Amino acid sequence: MVGQWANLTPEEQAALLGVGGLNAVQADHMIENAIGVYGLPLGVATNFLINGRDYLIPMVVEEPSVVAGLSNAARLFREGGGFITSSDEPVMIGQIQVLDLADVYVAAGAVMAQRQQLLAEADKVSSSIVQYGGGARDLQVRPIVDTPVGPMLIVHLLMDTRDAMGANTINTALEHIAPFIEQATGGRVNLRILSNLADHRKARAEGTIPKAELTTDKLSGEDAVQAIVEAGVFAEVDPYRAATHNKGIMNGIDAVVIATGNDWRAIEAGAHAFAARSGRYTSLTEWWQDDDGNLQGYIELPMAVGTVGGATRVHPAAGAALKLLGVESARELAEVCAAVGLGQNLAAMRALATEGIQRGHMRLHARQIAVAAGASGDLINRVVQAMITENNIRLERARQLVQEMSK
Ligand code: MEV
Repeated sequence: MVGQWANLTPEEQAALLGVGGLNAVQADHMIENAIGVYGLPLGVATNFLINGRDYLIPMVVEEPSVVAGLSNAARLFREGGGFITSSDEPVMIGQIQVLDLADVYVAAGAVMAQRQQLLAEADKVSSSIVQYGGGARDLQVRPIVDTPVGPMLIVHLLMDTRDAMGANTINTALEHIAPFIEQATGGRVNLRILSNLADHRKARAEGTIPKAELTTDKLSGEDAVQAIVEAGVFAEVDPYRAATHNKGIMNGIDAVVIATGNDWRAIEAGAHAFAARSGRYTSLTEWWQDDDGNLQGYIELPMAVGTVGGATRVHPAAGAALKLLGVESARELAEVCAAVGLGQNLAAMRALATEGIQRGHMRLHARQIAVAAGASGDLINRVVQAMITENNIRLERARQLVQEMSK
């Protein structure tokens, strides 16, 4: 069904099923000393409506409840009109560290005096990106006077890398322009590398959940909205909570980033550095009650993902996942990731602020106990339900139930 929806070829379907996915030969081309491949579950989150378009979201994740929680949250956002997203141009930051300078401020001026020539040099080694409409956009200078190794000048090269994540493009350009910067400043260049704090390349998502959708057995919609807003503020004011809150957001984002063959460590690094940008680590999301009493949420974070280059096209399942998602640009993928992060955050907070997350987890635990006690097929659900109703989830009880129910 999913295959039909996204028009996947039999090969693409097989890649997603893991049957014809990454093979050992391809793996050997990707990294050094490859001895095999390592499987993880690939799921599809449903109910997503983003900027008026329906999406199926491929997710690679080992943790139970993530895909179901997200699909459920997406349904709630859909009731409020779906996610509205936006993003910056795909501009990456590259850094050049310049040392041994007589005066960092004079050196900064010397670099800026050659801005045009330096940008043109950066473009010279990035012809394919320039051809697609990207290329060097700006130079910035950041003198840091007081460091344990003396003053240093940090030069930022801003480059639009279009649909590529852009690590190779920017690192190549940095290595190329570094000698020109040494010449201009009389200093010595040490590092030349991109920054994962890609804060010129942010994605944003927002949405509304009608309060009535949040009503539970024990809480009115209004009370649930209030409890979720309070949970959101907890993460805004306390780094201990913010770490867990943001981890929940990244449960969803990483899963999409991995499914599409992107670098999830880069995304993690960018997200957490951005969360700490004020000097105090805080939440990546904001939640509030609107004038009609409904719940509103907003997320903004750096999102350096690509739809070309790297593993996105080498890994057969990543290519198929991108096709399933149906995104046409890196920016669209970044915006989907932002919506997924906001949705995953709602899923966690809703559970935490209403019934707690253990109830869902206990059901999974009960399933494992039922299977361990010998249940199979239909019997599993019946044994699980009985143990949950009795609030007695133990192997011994599961064995008794299996015996009684199989008579
Ligand atoms: C578990 O993987 C994620 C949560 O802890 C996130 C959160 O606490 O917001 C449930």
